[in-house]
Amino acid sequence: MASRVDNLYFFIVAVTAFFAVLVSVLVIFFAAKYHTKDPLAVGQPIHGSIPLELAWSIIPFLISIVIFAWAADVFFDLQRPPDQTIEIYSVAKRWMWKFQHLDGQNEINELHVPVGRAVKVTFTSEDVLHSMFFPSFRVKADAIPGRYSTVWFTATKVGEYHLFCAEYCGTKHSGMIGKVIVMEPAAYQAWLTGGPGAGSLSQRGEELFNDLACNTCHRSDGSGRGPSLVNKFGAPQELANGTSVAVDEAYVRESILTPQVKLVAGYQPLMPTFQGLLSEENVMALVEYVKSLKTATSGVSNVSAAGPGETPPAAVQENR
Ligand code: CUA
Repeated sequence: MASRVDNLYFFIVAVTAFFAVLVSVLVIFFAAKYHTKDPLAVGQPIHGSIPLELAWSIIPFLISIVIFAWAADVFFDLQRPPDQTIEIYSVAKRWMWKFQHLDGQNEINELHVPVGRAVKVTFTSEDVLHSMFFPSFRVKADAIPGRYSTVWFTATKVGEYHLFCAEYCGTKHSGMIGKVIVMEPAAYQAWLTGGPGAGSLSQRGEELFNDLACNTCHRSDGSGRGPSLVNKFGAPQELANGTSVAVDEAYVRESILTPQVKLVAGYQPLMPTFQGLLSEENVMALVEYVKSLKTATSGVSNVSAAGPGETPPAAVQENR
């Protein structure tokens, strides 16, 4: 996206510079042209000119519309990740960035990604407002406590790039920096498999799901007191209040922490709140587990997101 953002930016600078020069030059030119040495000269009254006023209204309007349409096009593409992305979770806290890969690797203030693949980072904050800023990729979004934000980028060159916190967040805000390490795909695969075998994020989520006894109500066959979570992710969900909601990361997170807010139609508000009982990292593991609960046929984006050579999530194999 960097070149597209830059082209738009340079266009705006060029338009601004053109009119700044035009106006400055005309001011000087007219000042010289209409200067008079006669101390008693009286200025000509000006009665306005309809064509002139139309011109200086319509031309800037058209230029603004060009900027608006162009910027909207870039903005929508920046906001909408493509379908096939490498997914990474991140938690911001004073004063560090924690990254969680789906394969289980954790990193702090470093993010390893392969070159040429779209990467989507879903993140939140554990304490105050931060802002995830990758200047080289021209993407930035606030990390907001209690909410998921996303940024996505495709790194086009191998190398190391800055990561900044771009929102003042306290004493060591300026030290809340990191780097993105963009690697060749083969080196990235080697790096991914080189870490400790802690199990994938969805496996960790599954363990939590069992440890917290979520599985006693959320049975896969739908016979539990809570809805089955199989094939829920990515589909619309009807709610008890008659509306419906898209089951995305934010909805799953909300349903874990404040389950009464958007109750699934046909179920009683029995689920306890997990607010304050789970770290954001554990919530992300649970979200990832719910995402993995798809049947093999519908789990296309999920499997591709896990990368080549990756076995499907355990949940799919067991068909829980
Ligand atoms: Cu985090 Cu500034």
